[in-house]
Amino acid sequence: MAVVQQVMIVTGAGGGMGKAILQHQLAQGNIVVGLDLSVASLAELAHENLQTYEANVLQEDRIQAVFKEVYDTYGRIDGLVNALGIAQAATPIEQVSMDEWNRLMDVNVKSLFITTKAIVPYMKERKKGSIVTIASISAVRPRPGLQAYIASKGAAESFTRGMAIELAAYQIRVNTIHPGPADTQMLSQFTAHGADVEQTKQDVFVQSVPLGRLIDPNDIAGAVSYLLSDAASMVTGTTLHVDGGRGL
Ligand SMILES: NC(=O)c1ccc[n+]([C@@H]2O[C@H](COP(=O)([O-])OP(=O)(O)OC[C@H]3O[C@@H](n4cnc5c(N)ncnc54)[C@H](O)[C@@H]3O)[C@@H](O)[C@H]2O)c1
Repeated sequence: MAVVQQVMIVTGAGGGMGKAILQHQLAQGNIVVGLDLSVASLAELAHENLQTYEANVLQEDRIQAVFKEVYDTYGRIDGLVNALGIAQAATPIEQVSMDEWNRLMDVNVKSLFITTKAIVPYMKERKKGSIVTIASISAVRPRPGLQAYIASKGAAESFTRGMAIELAAYQIRVNTIHPGPADTQMLSQFTAHGADVEQTKQDVFVQSVPLGRLIDPNDIAGAVSYLLSDAASMVTGTTLHVDGGRGL
């Protein structure tokens, strides 16, 4: 049976997980569209099936225009992966500013509203689609001082469930992945101000994973590939923990 080439859009494509997701999708022969504030880290991937856009996902007009361009070019959009995000340095709530709270909610939650709203018309038209959002195991297994980040990831999971029921009639599946502590540049940003980053990585993050190592971006990319694929055709509204048991 001939394999159909699908079109996947990935936000946060320049990040640790985003880049691994692009690589897995390209290896499967798909057309991949990557968006990020900076796509410089993607230059080395140069591939005929990879298209990149430097874009702020909080700019709704820009996202609507990019998705339209992708649909007009390829005539289909099969998958959306929300892999962007920002971290919070562990901070007691009394010291968290309203600006910091709003920034985390904007980037980690409002962005999901913007991308989902923009993609749904194209998926509804074809009565098919898969949306995957990278949230965090911290939503259900919190650490102290990450209250705004944790709230944003809980909202991402609730939003996913809300969209899964709203879009089921159109055969559009919507799922969340909860990674555990992952080996990307973001991990160091969760460290409290003034704490030793490498020591925190070993003493706090690696120690918290029952399977004994940090999550590799490829672990996440593999789970994304499954949720985007027809192998998951009856999976919607669920959350897949890719956390080495951190959530237990
Ligand atoms: N690294 C971890 O330990 C960890 C653990 C659990 C969950 N997560 C989540 O996984 C996802 C991916 O994280 P990562 O580890 O790859 O981090 P990363 O920092 O390597 O990548 C995040 C990317 O998002 C991009 N981005 C941020 N704001 C944007 C915006 N407004 N518009 C476009 N792009 C924007 C950044 O430029 C960056 O390239 C995030 O949602 C993160 O919260 C990470």
